[in-house]
Amino acid sequence: MESIADGLGRTVDGYTWTYRIEDVDLDELSHLYRVAPLGDKPPAELATVFGNSMFTCFVHADGALVGAGRALADGVDCAYIGHVAVHPDHQGRGLGSAVMRRLVELAQGHKKIILYASPGAEAFYERLGFLRMKTAMGIWSDPDRAVGIGLLDRGDRPGD
Ligand SMILES: CC(C)(COP(=O)(O)OP(=O)(O)OC[C@H]1O[C@@H](n2cnc3c(N)ncnc32)[C@H](O)[C@@H]1OP(=O)(O)O)[C@@H](O)C(=O)NCCC(=O)NCCS
Repeated sequence: MESIADGLGRTVDGYTWTYRIEDVDLDELSHLYRVAPLGDKPPAELATVFGNSMFTCFVHADGALVGAGRALADGVDCAYIGHVAVHPDHQGRGLGSAVMRRLVELAQGHKKIILYASPGAEAFYERLGFLRMKTAMGIWSDPDRAVGIGLLDRGDRPGD
């Protein structure tokens, strides 16, 4: 069990941290995303997503998985942080900040560490030192849904 700082001057105690997807129950990880809530993420998909990520981070309390996150990184230029979630019973205690801080530490040395926030969660990341990216753009598999929830903006295009 480690004592970890959340980056905001608090210490988060009583949690066990692990860093290998092989040590995690994928059904439990899928359940964590469902209840956080961060959507439906099937176990097989999570095995691929976490298995292909250079840095992964998991937090247990009394044997139960209560926090997770990952960074997809190329080792030099860019690390992308995603899949950060904390179980509702453990939210608001600094654990999400501690997971973020640990992933940023693991990704240190990359020229840029990037992420996108759920609409409304920007302040959470700003408090951890992230600045807004003024020209960030993306291609989503379901752009209509992403536009609908405020993640993407089609901008003002001639003919729209
Ligand atoms: C977002 C999440 C990971 C934060 O984890 P957490 O353990 O609750 O976070 P912390 O306790 O470290 O919160 C740190 C601060 O950020 C704030 N914060 C947490 N979630 C926030 C959000 N969605 N928007 C704005 N601020 C938020 C908290 O109020 C807290 O402020 P405080 O110290 O003044 O009370 C967690 O709430 C979660 O899993 N939410 C559901 C999934 C989700 O929305 N993820 C966002 C992905 S972009």
